[in-house]
Amino acid sequence: MPSEKFTPFHAQDIPNLSGYVAIVTGGNAGIGYETTFQLALHGARVYIAGRSPDRVKKAIEQMKASSAKTLDLHMLEMDLQSLGSVKGGAESFMRQESRLDLLINNAGVRSHPSTANKPSLHKVIKRKGKHQAR
Ligand SMILES: NC(=O)c1ccc[n+]([C@@H]2O[C@H](COP(=O)([O-])OP(=O)(O)OC[C@H]3O[C@@H](n4cnc5c(N)ncnc54)[C@H](OP(=O)(O)O)[C@@H]3O)[C@@H](O)[C@H]2O)c1
Repeated sequence: MPSEKFTPFHAQDIPNLSGYVAIVTGGNAGIGYETTFQLALHGARVYIAGRSPDRVKKAIEQMKASSAKTLDLHMLEMDLQSLGSVKGGAESFMRQESRLDLLINNAGVRSHPSTANKPSLHKVIKRKGKHQAR
């Protein structure tokens, strides 16, 4: 029996998103893949921010092949472990679009290997959190 506080939300509850522009980080796999697919099926233009152009391209092809609708899907090359790559991806996005309506920060790992040589978002967030706690 569903909790009184939780209203179930299904993919068919997503409204028409035509005209909306979205970015889904890690949209080429797992939860991000399904999120990207559903947003696109509901009319959004969706950019998959991913670190592997091949995996992103493959995911886009797979989504397009799975739908009779024309899906507005794009790749945004971005490795979230490199702030330089994130900046490059953001600049590329801004050259192509004048608006961003939805940002789904999905990409992530449950435990990440040490990245001693590159400043990363993981480390920045961790440091910021520590700083704010003081
Ligand atoms: N599945 C669960 O039960 C669960 C539970 C709690 C929380 N979560 C969180 O939900 C999110 C998605 O989980 P999932 O199970 O769908 O994961 P997943 O199938 O492993 O997919 C993770 C996605 O993130 C991307 N990614 C990882 N590191 C990246 C980086 N440095 N730059 C760009 N993209 C990167 C991966 O890209 P590549 O294909 O290139 O590796 C992939 O597309 C994660 O943040 C996870 O921690 C999941």
